[in-house]
Amino acid sequence: MSGLKIIATGRKIPQKCVTNDDLKQYVETSDEWIRSRTGIVTRHYASGEKTWQLAAGAAKSALEKGGVNAADISLCITATITGDYATPSVSCMVQRELGLPENIPVFDINAACSGFIYALSVADRMLEEGSWGLVIGCERLSKILDFTDRSTCVLFGDGAGAALVKKEVGGEFYFSLGASGNKEALYAGGINEEESFVHMNGAEVFRFATGAMEKGILEMQEKSRNSDVDMYVCHQANARIIAHVRKKLKIPQEKLYMNLQRYGNTSGASIPIALDELFEEGKIGKGKKIIAVGFGGGLTWGSCFMRL
Ligand code: UT7
Repeated sequence: MSGLKIIATGRKIPQKCVTNDDLKQYVETSDEWIRSRTGIVTRHYASGEKTWQLAAGAAKSALEKGGVNAADISLCITATITGDYATPSVSCMVQRELGLPENIPVFDINAACSGFIYALSVADRMLEEGSWGLVIGCERLSKILDFTDRSTCVLFGDGAGAALVKKEVGGEFYFSLGASGNKEALYAGGINEEESFVHMNGAEVFRFATGAMEKGILEMQEKSRNSDVDMYVCHQANARIIAHVRKKLKIPQEKLYMNLQRYGNTSGASIPIALDELFEEGKIGKGKKIIAVGFGGGLTWGSCFMRL
């Protein structure tokens, strides 16, 4: 049996940090409301950087940490809903920037906040045994926020995370993906569309999110026959969603990572950014078992189990 493994990760967070109080210049809100309803304290916004530049920064860092040359990459996939152009894709821009080979598939996928899990699953299917790939999650959501809508603009942030992956003999990788077409619950027109802003029925998406996260974790525990997972890495949308599922599934607090207080919801980038921090902090690494779960626009959901 062979399966996908994450060998190294990288992240690129734009420098500009925006506090909850900063947002009071746009909408009637408060630090107290945002913290208590979401857990978010700060988020970062790109100022000048393109989406692909964030993606390339994260991917370059993953390559460097993994000690792998751009020339050895066989696949590059970016999960994003905020690519700079309809074409070229973010992945193609990353290819050019990093000098990835030309005889490999290079493309983006759109599965919103589940995108990174979708992309890992596609990489697992496409990569041949022994070959390397880059899987990136990257968003510039600040570009599509309506700064007159307090129910959405306080939630999101920008950033990129990347994983250097390898399909290995003995690798254990299980996944499950799903979708349920729905424009009413969560919608965004795209970075260059006139009506591009994010609209969300928060309560409906909250209910969907807790269900999707719970189901995703249970499904992966069952598929992998592993309930003693080292770390759970879930899409970072709301601290209350994470706390709800943690309590329901009796997961110890230290095993369910949370960094949304610093970055807000970065959609497809949230899971790889979290993975990079976990690697850096030594909380995950070779041999560790992780379950990752994404859920969001589409509506889409995806979960995976991986032994690193
Ligand atoms: O990444 C994709 C997945 N996304 C998610 O998983 C997001 C899921 N949803 C959520 O996280 C939550 O539903 C929100 C954080 C979006 C909203 O929290 P909520 O507890 O569901 O609040 P609400 O929408 O029911 O709003 C409660 C009140 C409303 O006022 P009234 O009508 O009760 O007077 C809102 O107008 O809070 C008001 N409100 C705000 N007040 C201050 C909404 N946004 C704000 C704000 N500041 N920023």
